[in-house]
Amino acid sequence: MATQFSYHHLAVAYDALFPLDPQALAFVEGAMGGLSGRKVVDAGCGTGPLARALADRGASVFGFDIDPDLLARAQERAGGGLTVATGDLRTWSPPRDFGKPDVVVCFGNSIPHLTKAQDLDAFFSRCRRALSPAGNLLLQLLDYDYLRAISNMTLPTIEVGGWRFQRYYEIGFDGLWTFHTELSGNGGQSSNAFELCPWSKDELERALCRNGFVVTGCFGGFDLRPPGASLPLVLGASLGLE
Ligand SMILES: C[S@@+](CC[C@H](N)C(=O)[O-])C[C@H]1O[C@@H](n2cnc3c(N)ncnc32)[C@H](O)[C@@H]1O
Repeated sequence: MATQFSYHHLAVAYDALFPLDPQALAFVEGAMGGLSGRKVVDAGCGTGPLARALADRGASVFGFDIDPDLLARAQERAGGGLTVATGDLRTWSPPRDFGKPDVVVCFGNSIPHLTKAQDLDAFFSRCRRALSPAGNLLLQLLDYDYLRAISNMTLPTIEVGGWRFQRYYEIGFDGLWTFHTELSGNGGQSSNAFELCPWSKDELERALCRNGFVVTGCFGGFDLRPPGASLPLVLGASLGLE
């Protein structure tokens, strides 16, 4: 997997580029029927704004991420119901005293960092083992079926707080896409490139099913619009054991 520390050069700007999305928060709250007293895992939590907001609404939250630069920022948000730690999507488990989570969220295109089917299976299987019997897994990533359909490999440029963030994909021969990013502004300039797997909706749904999940919802965004005509893909899945 080519993902470790891919975000080093973005850490300084990450919160400005990707602030808390209130719709993401409302989506989790809606899916859970309220957050107070619930146990939530934010898998690939990045700098932790969503994890913090979930904890502020009464949930016990465990956030983990593999990138030390992003995680250092999440650590600054910890306390008051939020614990964060280094963790890998493929091998994670909740802290011993956390109990069984009611929901695992994995948002913001973390899933494509799992570039092999066995890595995707490892993550889903870890989620199945960790979750409570009625537990849910909520995923948000880019809709790569849509990107293929519109033949657009360039994502919208983000300009905020003096930063300019540009990104585009390059299709590889091995089925992976190289993600090129360039950050400039505020007196600096940096770039990097790493491979991501452009998982299709069908591939994700099949992987969820073979790891014991039932897909309960599929949307084109946190606003619950139908999938297939917008950049985001949002999937909900449940263990359905209660
Ligand atoms: C695009 S960022 C999204 C961060 C955050 N969830 C958000 O919505 O802003 C992808 C995140 O996945 C993390 N990541 C990538 N591979 C990982 C792995 N194997 N285990 C844990 N985190 C990983 C990265 O470090 C990064 O924080």
